[in-house]
Amino acid sequence: MTEWQRTDETGVQRSAASTVGIGFLGCGTVGAEAVRILQNRSEEILRRTGVALEVRRVAVRDLSRDRDVPLPADAFTSDPLLVVQDPRVDLVVEVIGGIDPANFLLTEALKAGKPVVTANKELMAKFGPELLELAESAGVDILFEAAVGGGIPIIRPVTESLAGESARRIIAILNGTTNYILTRMTEDGVDLAEVLADAQRLGYAEADPTADIDGHDAAQKAAILASLAFGTRVHDEDVYREGIRDVRAHDVEMAARLGYVVKLVAIADLVPWADTFGVAVRVHPAMIPLTHPLASVRLSFNAIFLEGESVGELMFYGRGAGAGPTAVGLVGDVIDAARNLRQQARGPHLPLPATCPIVPIEDVHSHFYVRLEVADEPGVLSGVAGVFGRHEVSIQKVLQEGRAEDAELVLVTHRGREADVRATLRELVSLTAVKRLAAVFRVINGEEESSFS
Ligand code: HSE
Repeated sequence: MTEWQRTDETGVQRSAASTVGIGFLGCGTVGAEAVRILQNRSEEILRRTGVALEVRRVAVRDLSRDRDVPLPADAFTSDPLLVVQDPRVDLVVEVIGGIDPANFLLTEALKAGKPVVTANKELMAKFGPELLELAESAGVDILFEAAVGGGIPIIRPVTESLAGESARRIIAILNGTTNYILTRMTEDGVDLAEVLADAQRLGYAEADPTADIDGHDAAQKAAILASLAFGTRVHDEDVYREGIRDVRAHDVEMAARLGYVVKLVAIADLVPWADTFGVAVRVHPAMIPLTHPLASVRLSFNAIFLEGESVGELMFYGRGAGAGPTAVGLVGDVIDAARNLRQQARGPHLPLPATCPIVPIEDVHSHFYVRLEVADEPGVLSGVAGVFGRHEVSIQKVLQEGRAEDAELVLVTHRGREADVRATLRELVSLTAVKRLAAVFRVINGEEESSFS
């Protein structure tokens, strides 16, 4: 015990030698909040976890900006490599986002034997396996709880609490912006453009909403989650992706009449495929039964619904973005990585071999909702039904709406193979009685699935 230098006011012994020095790459709203938590709650963290932490160096792009964090001015530098290389920095937190220079900087940190904590979903979705391998060979942690679901603990439950479980399927709402927009469309009966403009004005949506609206953000998070849940490599480009741009208020209303709500979901499941098992990962709008737990996830909240072989159904719910929630995720990882560093231990063993093939969307089976604008004349319904039948797609439900110019048919199918449904749709639009294929949605249907029907 001779190394202990003092007993602090909390009654816990600490020493400068045992304190883990932290370097931050970036100090925007999330980074600044994480610095504030680490500095202002350091005594409490020490008392609760036995880990003494100190933020020692922070790299920022603009040195003149006030960050409102309890750090001396000389803690800041505009050179991020200086943070990584600083001998007083034992652990590196990355909150700059994007690929370059984050990938280079984290690679350098890991090579130097410094554990890394990151909230960077894009980096982990594209280069996660390489970084995990590097961390493994360096014998240190790379932790990324905040990269998926912000403040929702999901990476640690999947990789540690459920390490002995065999995950079957994940259905998740991983993007708050689109969930906010779809909630407003559902509850206020307004169209996407109107809600989006509103959300941008209120600061809920980015000026360039592409990453959210077109599903890129959710696809990156889905790739990370699927990789960990199924213990295989899933790259963000392996994720089939459709955004919400084509969702119309009319279909949102029709969904409600049929007992569904429209959500942008990420689905990952393990399915029999080509004489083996494959992982199918996709992000797209879907109709979810109002009885499904995910249907109650409103506004900008996120949730991950996981089905496991033994554990059954689990749901993780909370704020998927924002400074406070994301910073809490980062700080939890910092504490874990720091404790492991001091104990010369490592967190979960995560290198991911590509053990499962990726199933192409054409081979995925789903229920479908199809809305057709049709001629209002005898024989149309049987003609349309015949096309479904010829492609082996079975119809579960049909609704005929409107008269004359406004006539439309809404069909909900039983589970069908995506390629067969696409062939059906191609043939349907060639019928003279079909004026327009107005909408297609995949439907999560309780009928043949788990207990939520
Ligand atoms: N833009 C994301 C969302 C948060 O709307 O959920 C960051 O991943």
